[in-house]
Amino acid sequence: MESKKKIFTTAPLPFMGQKRKFLKQFKPALKGYSPTATYVDLFGGSGLLSHTVKAHYPDAKVIYNDFDNYRERLLNIGKTNVLIADIRQILTDAPKDKKVPENVKKTILERVAQEENKTGYVDYVTLSSSILFSMKYVQSLEQLKKETLYNCVRQSGYDATGYLDGLEVVSKCYKELFLQYKDLPDVVFLVDPPYLSTDVGTYKSYWKLKDYLDVLQVLDGTKYFYFTSNKSSIIELCEWIETKTPMSNPFNGHNECYS
Ligand SMILES: C[S@@+](CC[C@H](N)C(=O)[O-])C[C@H]1O[C@@H](n2cnc3c(N)ncnc32)[C@H](O)[C@@H]1O
Repeated sequence: MESKKKIFTTAPLPFMGQKRKFLKQFKPALKGYSPTATYVDLFGGSGLLSHTVKAHYPDAKVIYNDFDNYRERLLNIGKTNVLIADIRQILTDAPKDKKVPENVKKTILERVAQEENKTGYVDYVTLSSSILFSMKYVQSLEQLKKETLYNCVRQSGYDATGYLDGLEVVSKCYKELFLQYKDLPDVVFLVDPPYLSTDVGTYKSYWKLKDYLDVLQVLDGTKYFYFTSNKSSIIELCEWIETKTPMSNPFNGHNECYS
C-alpha cells in the first residue's frame, strides 16, 4: 500500500523569508488557477510555495528557482542532524533559550571546527537558528566566534523526505527564467522577491530600489501571485505614482552632492 505523502507547512530547514505564514491565504487563492497549469516560482527561496502548489495540484508542472542553492542544504541534512545532535548533547545542562556559558561555547566551537575539517560542510543558517539569538545569522566559524551563543537547539532532527518530489529545479536569475516562460500558454508566476526595507542578510545578493522596481515588469500582462509585506513600501509607491502621472524626473538637470 502506498504511504500518504507528507505535506510540509514549513520549510524543512530554517529559511528567512519563507512564506509559511502566507500559506493559509495562498491555498484558497490557488483554487482560482488551473490544476494543470505551469507554475514558475521565480524567487523560490526555500521552495515552500513550489512544494505547496505541487502538493495541491499533482498534475501541474512546477518550476522551483533555487537561486540560493537551498538544495545543497537539503542534501546535507544528514550531516547537519549529526552536528546538531552533538551540540544538543553538549548543551544538556544549559538552560533553554538562555545564554551559553563561555566554557560550553568553546566546546561547541571546537565541534563546529571539527565538522568543517572532517566533512567540509557546515549549514551555518541552521546552526545559527540553533545557537544564536532569534533572527541572527552567521555564515562562517570566524563570525560565530564573535557571537554570544544561546541554547535554542531543537529537540528533534530535521527531515526533508519527499519535499522536492515532482518539482523541476533550476537555478538562475529570475529575469532569465521569466523570459523563458513569459510567452508560453497557461503559465502562472509566483513572485516573492526580497522585500524592500527588510533584512536580506542571508540571501546571496544585495537589492537596491531599482531591483525591486524591475520586478514589477514581470507582472505586466501575466498571471501571477505577488507577495509583499506591509513593511514594504512598494505598493504605496505604485499608488503614489498612479496619482502623479504623467511623471517626469524632478531631478533632471540637478547637481549631485553626497555627504
Ligand atoms: C522572499 S525570498 C523567497 C522566499 C520563498 N518564497 C519561500 O517561501 O521560501 C526571496 C528570494 O529571492 C532570491 N533572489 C535574490 N535575487 C534573485 C534573483 N536575481 N533571481 C532569483 N532569485 C533571487 C533571494 O535569495 C531569496 O531566496
